Amino acid sequence: MDSLRINLAKYYKESYNLSEKSLTNDKIVVTPGGSSYALTLSFEMLLRNSKSEGEIIVLAPFFGPYTGMIKLGQGLPVYVDTKDDFEPDLDKIEAKINEKTRGILINSPNNPTGKVYSDITIENIIKVARKHKVAVISDEVYEKFVYNDHKQFVPLSHFFEENPDVLLISNTSPSKTYGMIGDRIGYIMSNSEEFIKDIAISLGYRFASAPYISQVALDSVF
Ligand SMILES: Cc1ncc(COP(=O)(O)O)c(C=O)c1O
Repeated sequence: MDSLRINLAKYYKESYNLSEKSLTNDKIVVTPGGSSYALTLSFEMLLRNSKSEGEIIVLAPFFGPYTGMIKLGQGLPVYVDTKDDFEPDLDKIEAKINEKTRGILINSPNNPTGKVYSDITIENIIKVARKHKVAVISDEVYEKFVYNDHKQFVPLSHFFEENPDVLLISNTSPSKTYGMIGDRIGYIMSNSEEFIKDIAISLGYRFASAPYISQVALDSVF
């Protein structure tokens, strides 16, 4: 539904002060199955051209199902401990990156720790990704669950325009924010229109589209 993608882009631009070009509707694809399926599909797409089992860096502690989602995409999760305050440890991340690594997964606000990453933290992770030519994948399903007045959720789309040379893939759903768990709908946003097009083609063959009734329900939120 074009109106839903247009409204999603508008929502992000208005809520997070994104520039006009940073998130057009060609950078958004609506998926069936909530953020669970959005993430699984993103991993599958990211890992599909790997000659050997591609690896995804997962920062611990993490939402348990990531392991299965990555394995469904024929990938291998590689776990990296965070610091005592759950801040990502860039040295430890870099130490685990090798020629098989395809991406670094971040989840802010985090389940289970509640940690919210600052823009500088995310920027530093993107720098590491650029250096090693890997993607950054984010799970933003807890976007609205920030309880500390001094913290602010920063979406990965905030970095789309400035970083065309690093593949950035953001995954989310209205399951938590709007209590729409039963609608089983989600969306993927990327700075790469090509990545979004590939996902849309794959979805087209599998499902034709995300369920229309759930798209209408989500569209009515905006
Ligand atoms: C961190 C995290 N990501 C994703 C999900 C899955 O949410 P959805 O209902 O959108 O598939 C959950 C659900 O608990 C979660 O905690």
